Amino acid sequence: MFATLPLLPADPILDLGRLFDADPRPEKVNLGIGVYLDDTAHTPIMRAVAEAETIVRRRENSKAYLPPKGAPGYAEGIERIALGSDIAAVAEGRCAIVQTPGGCGALGIAGALMKRSGVECVVMGTPTWSNHKPVFGAAGLATRMIPYYDADTGGIDFAGFIAEVKTLGPKDVLLIHGACHNPTGADLSHEQIDELIDIALDRGFLPMIDSAYHGLGESLDTDGYVLRAFASRLPELLISYSCSKNFGLYRERTGAIIMIGKDADHAAILQSHALDIARQTYSMPPAHGALMVSEILASDELEAMWRSELAEMQSAIRARRRLFADALAHTPLGNSLAWVGDHNGMFSLLPMTPEQTRRMRDEFAIHMAASGRINVCGIRADNAERLARAVAQILSSEPVMQSA
Ligand code: LMR
Repeated sequence: MFATLPLLPADPILDLGRLFDADPRPEKVNLGIGVYLDDTAHTPIMRAVAEAETIVRRRENSKAYLPPKGAPGYAEGIERIALGSDIAAVAEGRCAIVQTPGGCGALGIAGALMKRSGVECVVMGTPTWSNHKPVFGAAGLATRMIPYYDADTGGIDFAGFIAEVKTLGPKDVLLIHGACHNPTGADLSHEQIDELIDIALDRGFLPMIDSAYHGLGESLDTDGYVLRAFASRLPELLISYSCSKNFGLYRERTGAIIMIGKDADHAAILQSHALDIARQTYSMPPAHGALMVSEILASDELEAMWRSELAEMQSAIRARRRLFADALAHTPLGNSLAWVGDHNGMFSLLPMTPEQTRRMRDEFAIHMAASGRINVCGIRADNAERLARAVAQILSSEPVMQSA
């Protein structure tokens, strides 16, 4: 039966962890998978999560299934942090939310929902998260890449992006990243978001926002602008929301699909399809992560603790960006990569070929994605200069000076 199946290559991001773990060099640096790392290169459990977990363990007296829609209070909590309380779509009952296994589970449901709805093509800016195309492709949807990132400036080719967006029609979906673009760190400004919404209203395509890093760019409020602005002005919208990074719940697979319909009846229809697709694939949502998120968002004290820890992570990430940008400025690269200091969230894209990233690993024990993406969380005061010199050497063949 399986004789003709070929062996597939490992996932370009997930395989980075295996390579890093297998590297025996003590000076190795992990700039790979998108997880937060503290000053000791450890991914900590947030204090609010640990407290919520204690409460959940004390209270939980059964492992019977959760309701298909998710943990009690979870959808309401996600709706409040993602969209706020004063969005008309929420007040009008046009917003339906279903708990999913991580943000990726939400993307999978969205893909199937689009296929059922007659979507012809999912359009994405170049580059995008390496799993976007496979997820939508697996749903049987065509995908198309359009310009987005400008590698020369480290910013956005907004004119090129918008020119293509203006050609989209009602059978198209435009995938937009929430704050902290993965893999480039280059986010749309609020003005650009507003312009994009005008075009979406004019052209009639469906926007879908993948929000995986809410709160890690500038703040929950500022990062949430893209979600609130689209949700306020668009008649229909899909959002995949992940709690992996902003609650540090990676392995607990905690996410949600947020569906805005043109009226309450359509929201109910969308929800029924999301539940049906879930039933056909994984049947029931996992409990533990969502129970903790619900616990945090139901308690003023735990929510305040979570917000302040999230803000600490956000500012630590920013500080590491600055550290790296300063260190790069002291190499022959000068300010040519200064944008690394200004990007949002965990990622920036270094202008490297896969071969150059392999040399970073082989020659300098610096682990990063073959695309040139780095997770800046791996940068610290004691490795920033070495990293910057390695980047300069690889990009400009500058001989690396060993630190004293
Ligand atoms: C990443 O982009 O590194 C993370 O979102 C983890 C993943 O699943 O790829």
